[in-house]
Amino acid sequence: MTLKNKRIVLGVCGGIAAYKSILLLRLLKKEGAHVRVIMTKNAGYFVGPTTFEALSEKPVCMDLFEKTDDAAISHIKWADEADAVVVAPATANMIAKMANGLADDALSTFLLAVTTPVLVCPAMNTNMLLHPATQRNLETLRSDGFEVLETDFGKMACGTTGPGRLPDAEYILDRLKACLFSKDYEGKTVLVSAGPTREFIDPVRFISNPSSGKMGYAIARAAEQRGACVILVTGPTALEAPYHVEALPVDSARDMAKAVFENMDRADVIIKTAAVGDYRAKTQADQKIKKQNEELVLELVQNQDILKELGARKTRQFLVGFAAETRDLAANAGEKLKKKNLDIIVGNLVGSPDSGFQADTNKVTLFFKDGSSEALPLLGKDEVAHILLDRILEKNGN
Ligand code: PMT
Repeated sequence: MTLKNKRIVLGVCGGIAAYKSILLLRLLKKEGAHVRVIMTKNAGYFVGPTTFEALSEKPVCMDLFEKTDDAAISHIKWADEADAVVVAPATANMIAKMANGLADDALSTFLLAVTTPVLVCPAMNTNMLLHPATQRNLETLRSDGFEVLETDFGKMACGTTGPGRLPDAEYILDRLKACLFSKDYEGKTVLVSAGPTREFIDPVRFISNPSSGKMGYAIARAAEQRGACVILVTGPTALEAPYHVEALPVDSARDMAKAVFENMDRADVIIKTAAVGDYRAKTQADQKIKKQNEELVLELVQNQDILKELGARKTRQFLVGFAAETRDLAANAGEKLKKKNLDIIVGNLVGSPDSGFQADTNKVTLFFKDGSSEALPLLGKDEVAHILLDRILEKNGN
């Protein structure tokens, strides 16, 4: 889900990567989070507190003994209130303090008092990172329950190339969201199909549909954030694959069928969001079809129904289909649920700009194998994804 109204504390330490925490702050605000910034004095040499104050719209805490904003007690108050904490960049010094329970400035004191999830994003010179003391401290943080990001590899400010760079703000945001979810899909493999298929009629033309992949990618992202190992079989889309999923790009329905059947045995849950072409051209022209007559008749043949075949072959897999319908949602979806031997079918009302193809939101009804159903209000596709994942666990006896 989004970070709307979540209380996030952003800890900033003194490193050249401190400028990236401004981008992170902007992303957090864009998500609707309430962000409080605690920065070390050294961070102030790289980016001034005024910038953080202006962007967070809240006073910044730098000093335990400041007279403003009740700074002397704010670290305790914020520690009690925070939903999650992100320290970016986390310097070797702050990591060492955290690993040893030191509390000698506002940020380290806060970090000792906080009990909510803390995402630590190290960034430093390569040699400092690889120093046995830093590695030991990072290991301590991990075993103490902190979520510690791997650094990026690349050219450093000091001119050397190696590990130690702060990952992009988008990635940090994604991992922060992951910190907020319980890992209720840990140990499970979820196979998701997403996007459209393309059925070429000649080398330059194809039959397809308007699926953007947003719904399927949202499910893949949500499952990964909840600890699943995710296989994403995806038709052509303009989207970046979610982090840490195994993305298998395909074109046609036959490619999709092959990728799905090859991987189905690895999956505990299969969710078929893809809008698969029901038909393909009987023959695909080797050369571009020339414009000749007024009319051109294309002969089409049916593609295999991948979901139906999955329903016939499934063993332990929990199987979820989607049904894109313009009318008679319950009747049409219900029929597909039975015919394809599904555990859940997501009836998706399409044809309005805020639901179905390409929209960021979706209006769906979940139909369950036991005959019950649940109509959801218009929600973001991320929210639909999480509710669907919740119901899968409930119905699957978890
Ligand atoms: O990608 P977005 O822009 O976010 O849009 C999302 C969506 C509208 C595509 C999605 O929410 C959705 O409704 N997907 C199902 C679309 C569809 O093809 O529905 P269907 O009723 O034709 O197919 C029913 C089910 O059978 C689907 O799970 C489909 O993946 C599967 N199927 C269909 C035909 C086929 N040959 N093989 C299949 O596996």
